[in-house]
Amino acid sequence: MNQVLVSAPSNIALIKYMGKIEGSGNKPTNGSLSYTLENLRTFVRLTEIEGGKDQWKLLVREDLEKMDLSEKGQQRFLKHLQNLKDKWGVTKNFLVESANNFPSDCGLASSASSFAALTLAAAQMFQKINPQPWGEDKKVLSELSRQGSGSSCRSLFSPWAIWLHEYAEPMNLPVKDMHHIVVVVEDSKKEVSSSEAHKLVTTSPRFEGRVERAEIRLKDLSQALQFDDWHMARQIVWDEFIDMHRLFETSTPSFSYMTDGSKKVLEECQKLWNKWQDGPLVTMDAGANVHMLFRNDQKKSFETYRELFKNEFKVLAFEGVKSDVH
Ligand code: DP6
Repeated sequence: MNQVLVSAPSNIALIKYMGKIEGSGNKPTNGSLSYTLENLRTFVRLTEIEGGKDQWKLLVREDLEKMDLSEKGQQRFLKHLQNLKDKWGVTKNFLVESANNFPSDCGLASSASSFAALTLAAAQMFQKINPQPWGEDKKVLSELSRQGSGSSCRSLFSPWAIWLHEYAEPMNLPVKDMHHIVVVVEDSKKEVSSSEAHKLVTTSPRFEGRVERAEIRLKDLSQALQFDDWHMARQIVWDEFIDMHRLFETSTPSFSYMTDGSKKVLEECQKLWNKWQDGPLVTMDAGANVHMLFRNDQKKSFETYRELFKNEFKVLAFEGVKSDVH
């Protein structure tokens, strides 16, 4: 039986992909920079089947979470598989089984890790069936993954990925092995998907100048991280997610992911930063949850934040990179 099992990590953008060129297969209007979340992974098992058509099923494994993928979600995933089959010239059919090692009901982005995992699984399988000279080239695979879901193209590189146009590339920065906290403020399904958000933000008067603002921040943040200027990095990362959320709030129709809970968490983060003049990089995606990234030497601070928020919210905390998650 022809079968492969592959996993891929999620990632969190510090400079955001928000706004895309319509009809371009998720080409972004601005470059983005992300940190790869090695502990948050999607597993995909691909099995060749006789006849019929491609199908999706939950991958059942004790260490993986159960999730419900909507009919629309399944169709989008299988459409990506079809796109990959066309690219490799493969006509066989497959059973796609997938699951995350993190809860799917807590509003954590799973499209980045799931589309990256499907791309990698398909590449492994199709290289056996109909090998292509470019079939193991990470840039080609990143570009293909992007066509499924934009942010997934960054999940092929670790720990840092920069995505400017067609594909993402690794970026060499001295900051590694960070600790990660997600304060799960809201665990219900988002009313506006990130794919819809990409369209809506272009109606905001603030979208004018957005590309320039993001580009300047991308340059400045890379420099700050390169030269260990944590204060500068933290400020840029903060300004960037606030900028993105302002775009949401000034779109037509306007929408917002920021809840009272998010605001409370952000205020606490700001208070602690003012007190200690140190703390994590804080960011939010297109959702209410607040992500924090701590340098490896900020273990104590990581524990303090975890304790602080855990009475009121669900808190997911990941210490560095565990070695047993692959
Ligand atoms: C806010 O990659 O989910 O997380 O390309 O339509 O699948 P599609 O969008 P998606 O957008 C992610 C947006 C973001 C910022 C980011 O990850 O850069």
